[in-house]
Amino acid sequence: PTIYCVTPTYARPHQKAELTRLSHIFMLLPNLHWVIVEDSETKTNLVRNLLERAGLTQRSTQLNVKTPTAFKLKHNDPNWIKPRGVEQRNLALSWIRTNADAEKHNIVFFMDDDNSYSVELFAEMSKIEPGRVGVWPVGLVGGLMVEKPLLNQETNLVEGFNAAWRPERPFPIDMAGFAISTELLFKYPEAAFSYEVQRGYQESEILRHLTTRSQLQPLANNCRDVLVWHTRTEKTKLTNEEALNKQGKKSDEGMEV
Ligand code: UGA
Ligand code: MN
Repeated sequence: PTIYCVTPTYARPHQKAELTRLSHIFMLLPNLHWVIVEDSETKTNLVRNLLERAGLTQRSTQLNVKTPTAFKLKHNDPNWIKPRGVEQRNLALSWIRTNADAEKHNIVFFMDDDNSYSVELFAEMSKIEPGRVGVWPVGLVGGLMVEKPLLNQETNLVEGFNAAWRPERPFPIDMAGFAISTELLFKYPEAAFSYEVQRGYQESEILRHLTTRSQLQPLANNCRDVLVWHTRTEKTKLTNEEALNKQGKKSDEGMEV
């Protein structure tokens, strides 16, 4: 199957570093299609050139939609007060519903631009059966070393989760911890992300339309292997750059960083 990887992304000093790191996964794995959705009013040259230089023009789709100002984080807001990527992921879902072949078995994965992904994870996703949602552990998230589905010893089906943060959520897992058979997106056209849900409920919001806990397909060695980490990049300190800017100078004059 083709794995459609949906990545919301927005301009900030380390955006190109994040996307460059991700692009190498796509260069290694020919069955991936990157749906990259910019949180901006226009499609940027930075993203277009990056896709081109990685040789991904044919295996990627560049979209853009700006998060409405009312929902956008302000400079000093803690990052958790508003959901991120809602608008962008919903646009990608509608693109997939329009452009993917409804008769074929493909996969959709929501891929943040700052996480760390092993190439092995994508081989696991390829095992997702038509009409199912695959799940696996995610490292370094929810205040734990690892958040993971808990399996019944006899049936190997998911019977719970080890999450410590908001464990009462219907699906207490991170966005990086599941992927969806496209068949389900065609079967449940209302499945999407929403601004109307509490913090931490985006994953549950889409999954509640698509599956139940016991229908989840455990992957990654029956959820014993960690193949993705919820890493977060430190905010770049640019005090010296700001001082230069005040003198009308830039260290990156004529360069794309
Ligand atoms: C966690 C989850 O890993 C996210 O998938 C989820 O969207 C988020 O919580 C949430 O609850 O909204 P976290 O690391 O805190 O993620 O979020 P970010 O990595 O800052 O943002 C998630 C994605 O949205 C990234 O790909 C980021 O580039 C994008 N984003 C973020 C935008 O497109 N616009 C923004 O203003 C902020
Ligand atoms: Mn992140």
